[in-house]
Amino acid sequence: MIYATKNLEDDHVFILRLIDVMEVMTTVSEPEIEHLEEVVAIIRSFADGLHHAKEESLLFPLMAERGFSMQFGPIAVMLQDHEDGRNYVKGMAENIALLKNGELSALNLVYYNMLGYGELLRNHISKENNVLFRMADNALSSADHQSLTEQFDQIENQSYPDKKGDFVARIEKLVTAYNA
Ligand SMILES: [Fe+2]
Repeated sequence: MIYATKNLEDDHVFILRLIDVMEVMTTVSEPEIEHLEEVVAIIRSFADGLHHAKEESLLFPLMAERGFSMQFGPIAVMLQDHEDGRNYVKGMAENIALLKNGELSALNLVYYNMLGYGELLRNHISKENNVLFRMADNALSSADHQSLTEQFDQIENQSYPDKKGDFVARIEKLVTAYNA
């Protein structure tokens, strides 16, 4: 049987890879602004745009139909994590803009938000992989898993015709640039 959570766990591998690079980037005293902007763009389109959308619009609502609460407990915690992540990304973007305007002191805040995001998401992904997804595996029927998997594919094909390949290539480019 194919678990729908496999699709999401595969995304996590690449999100963790991006976090590895982000952590190396924060050791650089004069980073390329385009690299910082690229990190924000990849998070917004892939980690938050595609991946969190699959969780928030498909997995969590289906789990709610199978008896989980959206307001309390593990799903509520995951939703709060996603929100906290968005705030870190906002902090990165705003301070990158200041940096571009010549405010060099904003770099510290760019890095503060990058490291905060990385720590948050590492914990978040570990909670999903070890706890929430395993609950979903047990609570959903094999028909549920099949239809979720099809819907994940559909979202990926509609919004991102070349699927995850483009994101993975962009992350790998940063990995090479920073030897991460
Ligand atoms: Fe996730």
